[in-house]
Amino acid sequence: MKGLILCAGKGTRLYPFTVSYPKTLIPVANVPLLHGCIDKLIDQNITEIGIVIHPSQESSIRESVQKIDEQNMRITYIYQRKPAGIANAILQAKDFIGEESFILLLGDNLISTSLEILKDQVDIEKNDAALLLAEVDHPQDYGIAEVTGSKIVRLEEKPQKPKSNLAVLGAYAFSSSIFKAAETIKPSARGEYEITDAIQWLIQEGYPVAYQKTEISSIDVGTVERWITANRKMLKEMPYESNIHPSVIVKNSTIFGPVSIEQNCVIEDAVIGPYVSIGESSTINGCSIQDSILLSHVHLKKIGHPLRKMVVGSGSTWVGIEQKGEDQG
Ligand code: G1P
Repeated sequence: MKGLILCAGKGTRLYPFTVSYPKTLIPVANVPLLHGCIDKLIDQNITEIGIVIHPSQESSIRESVQKIDEQNMRITYIYQRKPAGIANAILQAKDFIGEESFILLLGDNLISTSLEILKDQVDIEKNDAALLLAEVDHPQDYGIAEVTGSKIVRLEEKPQKPKSNLAVLGAYAFSSSIFKAAETIKPSARGEYEITDAIQWLIQEGYPVAYQKTEISSIDVGTVERWITANRKMLKEMPYESNIHPSVIVKNSTIFGPVSIEQNCVIEDAVIGPYVSIGESSTINGCSIQDSILLSHVHLKKIGHPLRKMVVGSGSTWVGIEQKGEDQG
């Protein structure tokens, strides 16, 4: 079985963070989403991995993937030059996949469920597709499944009047029959070749499509709000309460875990946490920060008010002036 991770999307809902930075490299608890996807595949001994990118993302994605310390993995980069949908992205990988079955991961999803069940449903139980479904609050934002017993009867992409709240999550297993489906479907109203329509085609043509409901939600890190939620969730799930790199210097400060602080940071006269991640080579002086994401090379000094639910972009410098009591003014 092979793995395929889609990274070519533009991530417009995360602008301006994603103007010059692929969405799949945004860090959650200081781990880029793409690294999380690769780890999930490696956990299943899937080491032959295709990554679908837009040519403009090549150097940043390659550079980031090279940092992964994994001897066995073999990465192939595949181009999707136009944002024509997930089913179109899969077609670009047809030669790479060949006749094998594969796990497809949407690179902007944070999946906490193990992929073993998906793998088994296609490899051992010989289904042509296996999906993960979870109940969601806003079904209009997802591909939605209608199920009867153990069968999926119908799938609909972002329906205005959803027939259920069971969303298709961004992790799938397929046999190579999905290529026939992707080649046959027409573009949707938004002009994309939808994966939902391709799976619906398999269902209509009588190919076995399995599903597994999951309680553990996955998060599509599509907005800043969901990014902060995902960060909080991943920090909460860390094996240690705090992950502070040994090179970090902490002076006269209080840290409330869970937090993640990367290498070469200096924290001084500050209150940090809970639920804060700070990227490498940042300096925080005289600030109070909670429930926030600071990317790398961020410099904050004497910000007069506590920072809550913020994302601070790489290379930002913010300096406040010395706060004095009003009566001293
Ligand atoms: C895509 C799929 C949708 C699925 C979702 C999961 O949507 O088209 O079926 O439910 O991912 O995150 P989009 O990337 O357009 O949000």
